[in-house]
Amino acid sequence: MACLPCRGGAATGSKGPPDKRKYSTSLAAGIGRRQPHPESVLSLLASLLLDLVMGHPALGRLRTRTLAEVRGRVLELGVGTGRNLPLYGPGAEVLAIDPDRGHLARARRRAALARAQVRLVAASAEALPFPDTSLEGAVSTWCLCSIPDLPRALGEVRRVLRPGAPWWFVEHGLCPDPAVARWQHRLTPFWRRLSGGCQLDRPVAAALAAAGFRIERLATGRLMPGPRLAAWTYLGLARKPEA
Ligand SMILES: C[S@@+](CC[C@H](N)C(=O)[O-])C[C@H]1O[C@@H](n2cnc3c(N)ncnc32)[C@H](O)[C@@H]1O
Repeated sequence: MACLPCRGGAATGSKGPPDKRKYSTSLAAGIGRRQPHPESVLSLLASLLLDLVMGHPALGRLRTRTLAEVRGRVLELGVGTGRNLPLYGPGAEVLAIDPDRGHLARARRRAALARAQVRLVAASAEALPFPDTSLEGAVSTWCLCSIPDLPRALGEVRRVLRPGAPWWFVEHGLCPDPAVARWQHRLTPFWRRLSGGCQLDRPVAAALAAAGFRIERLATGRLMPGPRLAAWTYLGLARKPEA
């Protein structure tokens, strides 16, 4: 399942969280690209479409599997409309980032109902507004495909995680079948434009390893509906080395 509507969007203008004890929203500066007006129809539609696509029950099952053991103060990259937020247990404190304010506006509703403490932050993965080694874990679900500068983002996650911290992920990406991979490479330039940045051919596990993460668990395969070129999935646990 590739991310159809990962478009830059909106959502300042929020009046603040209804329950400040439960979560907070922080719109960090320096997002680095122009955002449409929060209330623009296109932005609302993009977030609505993303929410619908990412609400597929098959993805829900993979989310539940991915998030089952998440605890502590964790970073969620590219939180989108917050589909993961209801699935965190009360033992998690989630700092959830996304550069798209429209998606974040939609995520606020789910943050308010979450069992975990949630803070939504408008920021890009390539420039995380958190101190070095300040976080106990990371989570990403169908997000690495959309980050423009992936090596830089992975370096940032490594910087903010404490040594030994886990990273739970479920992502789509490069299929090992050369015939499928060829199509992924061919289609990505077009798909990227249509989908607002999603790349079909990211070598997820290799990219994590190249950034210095140790892959501890990995399941790959067509774990969700769709052709392999969009549905080839990497589900697993990576870890920042102790030293
Ligand atoms: C397919 S959506 C997935 C959303 C969410 N993770 C989920 O599972 O429903 C990809 C998300 O990545 C976000 N994204 C795009 N560029 C990003 C960046 N540079 N840093 C962090 N997130 C980014 C998009 O705004 C979008 O919310």
